[in-house]
Amino acid sequence: MQLLKAIFVLVASVALAEAKALTQKVFSPYALTNKTLVLYDVRIQDDFTSQYSQLLQAIRSSGSDVDVKRIEPDSAIALFDDYEQRLYDNLLVMPSKSRLLASNLDFKSLEEFSRKGGNMLLLTSGQGSQTDVSVFLNQLGIYPSPKAYRLVDYHNSNNWQLGVDKIENPVFLNPHIVPEGSQVSELAYENGSAALLAGNEFIIPVLRAKETSITYDVDRGFVGSQSTWHSGSDGFLMLAHQARNNARVFWAGSDTFLADSHFQKDLAHGIWRWVSRVNGVLKSDRFEHTKVDRDGLSLAVQDGYKVKDFCKFETAFSKWNGTAWVPYETTDAQLEFIMLDPYYRLNLTLDGTSNDSALYSTTFQIPDHHGMFTFKVDYSRPGLTFLKQYSVVPVRHLANDEYPRSWQITNSWVYVASFFSVVVAWLVFVFLFIVSGKKPLASAEKKKE
Ligand SMILES: *[C@@H]1O[C@H](CO)[C@@H](O)[C@H](O)[C@H]1NC(C)=O
Ligand SMILES: *[C@@H]1O[C@H](CO)[C@@H](O)[C@H](O)[C@H]1NC(C)=O
Ligand SMILES: *[C@@H]1O[C@H](CO)[C@@H](O)[C@H](O)[C@H]1NC(C)=O
Ligand SMILES: *[C@@H]1O[C@H](CO)[C@@H](O)[C@H](O)[C@H]1NC(C)=O
Ligand SMILES: *[C@@H]1O[C@H](CO)[C@@H](O)[C@H](O)[C@H]1NC(C)=O
Repeated sequence: MQLLKAIFVLVASVALAEAKALTQKVFSPYALTNKTLVLYDVRIQDDFTSQYSQLLQAIRSSGSDVDVKRIEPDSAIALFDDYEQRLYDNLLVMPSKSRLLASNLDFKSLEEFSRKGGNMLLLTSGQGSQTDVSVFLNQLGIYPSPKAYRLVDYHNSNNWQLGVDKIENPVFLNPHIVPEGSQVSELAYENGSAALLAGNEFIIPVLRAKETSITYDVDRGFVGSQSTWHSGSDGFLMLAHQARNNARVFWAGSDTFLADSHFQKDLAHGIWRWVSRVNGVLKSDRFEHTKVDRDGLSLAVQDGYKVKDFCKFETAFSKWNGTAWVPYETTDAQLEFIMLDPYYRLNLTLDGTSNDSALYSTTFQIPDHHGMFTFKVDYSRPGLTFLKQYSVVPVRHLANDEYPRSWQITNSWVYVASFFSVVVAWLVFVFLFIVSGKKPLASAEKKKE
């Protein structure tokens, strides 16, 4: 009986913990307003809030209030307050046929929103790709196919004349954006568009188009070099972008995988949590370097570095798990010690973890070169916030009295010995010269007389 009771309590508490984990509210450490603006076009989604209720629920569960507004070219929508501060943390724009997003919004407003740290989930599709959204994406180096282009796949498609409407076993390319556990056997991708990329290193590919797919202009009615937008795997179906200020943009060429009818819970939650900067957020609270002796023990006197000193560098990385900072463990963090070029690029080794951070360190000898050096840690990985830290230190050369004395250098013993032997030989010579030179002198004097 006791045992049964214990098992029951255990099962109940596990179930409770699981339920809690699912309903647990997460939020972004960078939230300024905890608000999200959703813009949709009533000509494409006639009943948005009920067609996309699970998406709205996902947004709310990541700690944000949702403002849903229609895209209407004649009305104004405020993204900033009177002091030019953001009113929203995140912006979601659904595919739209509209000429303008709002009377006061254009691609420059989107740029400004991103520059001020706002995040965006932008969706276009074969049915709607609004001009300002496209221009903004073009500036990032993402070129979605225009309206009326259709994604088709002659080899894998269900119905090639109507285009691709689902993607079997998609392979997501970034584990920080779409978590590895998110199993998606069939991704709904109706009326999809595909994008081409310009070379921008801040773009993160998330889903590549199949080798056998193309996008072409349906209005032309035939497939030719003039009427195709992308062919094969040079096209992308989902892309992400993280700017220097860590503001995030996610683009997808279809919105059906977010609709209630095809909702992929893990995928949608993963994408939204990445966009709203709940997932993939790192920080570092520590950046220290100290002078140590040859064995790595800290020295009592920290009087600046001189050439060939030993130095210990320490840093700590934390990752946001949705509610708290936890240790972030990795093996690919490096320290650079730079003057113009890196003199050293050293792997940082994990020393241990504290409650909220993982501690890394490395010990090295400063090169035999004086000048201004920079300690730099640049941990920039696709899908994670950029960690960039640096500090500049002077490294001086040896002072006159800091060089080793000659007798401390064994190589010099030969020269020191020869010096002393010359001195001794000279003294012996002088002595002998003085005591043994009388006779010839005396005879010379006699001759003179
Ligand atoms: C945003 O929401 C989180 C969680 O509810 C809260 O801790 C945080 O203070 C909020 N931030 C602002 C600016 O309201
Ligand atoms: C795809 O586009 C066609 C018109 O081009 C439209 O009738 C259909 O409803 C769209 N499908 C979805 C899922 O949006
Ligand atoms: C985050 O970490 C804290 C502390 O370790 C833990 O209590 C919390 O449940 C974690 N949150 C999530 C969403 O995993
Ligand atoms: C640093 O780590 C990389 C990969 O983890 C390895 O290839 C490289 O040899 C390491 N460098 C040193 C100096 O240990
Ligand atoms: C870390 O956790 C320990 C116990 O697990 C606690 O005593 C200590 O106060 C915590 N430190 C910080 C900085 O929260």
